[in-house]
Amino acid sequence: MAYYSRLVGSGSYLPEKVLTNDQLAELVDTSDEWITERTGIKQRHIAAEGQMTSDLAREAALKAMDYAGVKASDIDLIVVGTTTPDDTFPATAVKLQAQLGMTRGAAFDLQAVCSGFVYSLSVVDAMIKAGQAKTALVIGAETMSRIVDWEDRGTCVLFGDGAGAVVLRAENGISENEPRWNQRRGILSTHIHSDGTLRDILYCDGGPSSTGDAGVIKMEGKDVFKHAVTNLSSIVGEALSANGLEAKDIDWLVPHQANKRIIDGTRKKLGMDESKIVLTVDKHANTSAASIPLALDTAVRDGRIQEGDLILMEAMGGGLTWGAALARW
Ligand code: UT7
Repeated sequence: MAYYSRLVGSGSYLPEKVLTNDQLAELVDTSDEWITERTGIKQRHIAAEGQMTSDLAREAALKAMDYAGVKASDIDLIVVGTTTPDDTFPATAVKLQAQLGMTRGAAFDLQAVCSGFVYSLSVVDAMIKAGQAKTALVIGAETMSRIVDWEDRGTCVLFGDGAGAVVLRAENGISENEPRWNQRRGILSTHIHSDGTLRDILYCDGGPSSTGDAGVIKMEGKDVFKHAVTNLSSIVGEALSANGLEAKDIDWLVPHQANKRIIDGTRKKLGMDESKIVLTVDKHANTSAASIPLALDTAVRDGRIQEGDLILMEAMGGGLTWGAALARW
């Protein structure tokens, strides 16, 4: 009998301030029409002055804990996927640990940019399977607005701030030889990849040991777009075949929300109907590691995702990094 990770709750948080495409068009040479047509984005949320990644993460975490009915004293692992930590050190997850009043276990951040949530799920799932954690908070939280070059119309229109969280609990699983093992509720499998040679098409031009400041996002949009379409198709194929499943078995595709055209490309390759895609990019823009848990929580709370539904999550981001996770809610 082995452990597996059961998904027992989700939560999310968006800062109050909304920045619409029209408002952005007053700052840079762009238009609602261009942004909508090229990306599907209509608006993004922006953290208030002084509001940090840990503040967004805490709100999302508290909602996920409430949903799951777990207390801080039940949690023994916090992993925060983030590219925009409050400080160079210590980790945002450790700050959150103190704020939540969690007094045992471990907390750390994971840096895989837009793939941060899928990477975090993968690491936490492995730790739960290994018996190293029993109740874990997995969070994607970002204040991307702090590392955006607000004079670069090619990137500043794309990003937003927010946080999403899930609670994973170790359950004693049925044997993997059991024919219907993939019917269990929780994480079925995770798949992660990276290719560091593609660093230059999407990166931040600063850092503690290079420039001494955080830097701003630099991106070759067209190149990233091409890699996204290729890598996301291959990763979803990998996730499905690892579980002996086909696209028609998936109830919900919960993709990283970078660009509606990338999401449509993956959906078409899978032959999935538009009604099975959770799309939040119009309202949230690209919130990097926060985008999948934000979309997941949106669809859980509005009743689209129901108990037992099969969910395919996928993401690609700077690194390049990419990954997928298949789970039953
Ligand atoms: O989370 C993972 C990381 N990011 C991504 O996945 C993003 C991947 N890339 C993309 O989503 C798209 O490449 C973009 C949305 C960034 C750009 O769309 P595109 O269709 O590839 O446009 P483009 O970069 O080729 O630009 C086309 C034109 C250019 O003008 P010229 O050279 O044709 O005269 C740009 O200067 O659009 C211009 N442009 C803009 N115009 C108005 C670029 N940004 C803007 C803008 N408003 N905000």
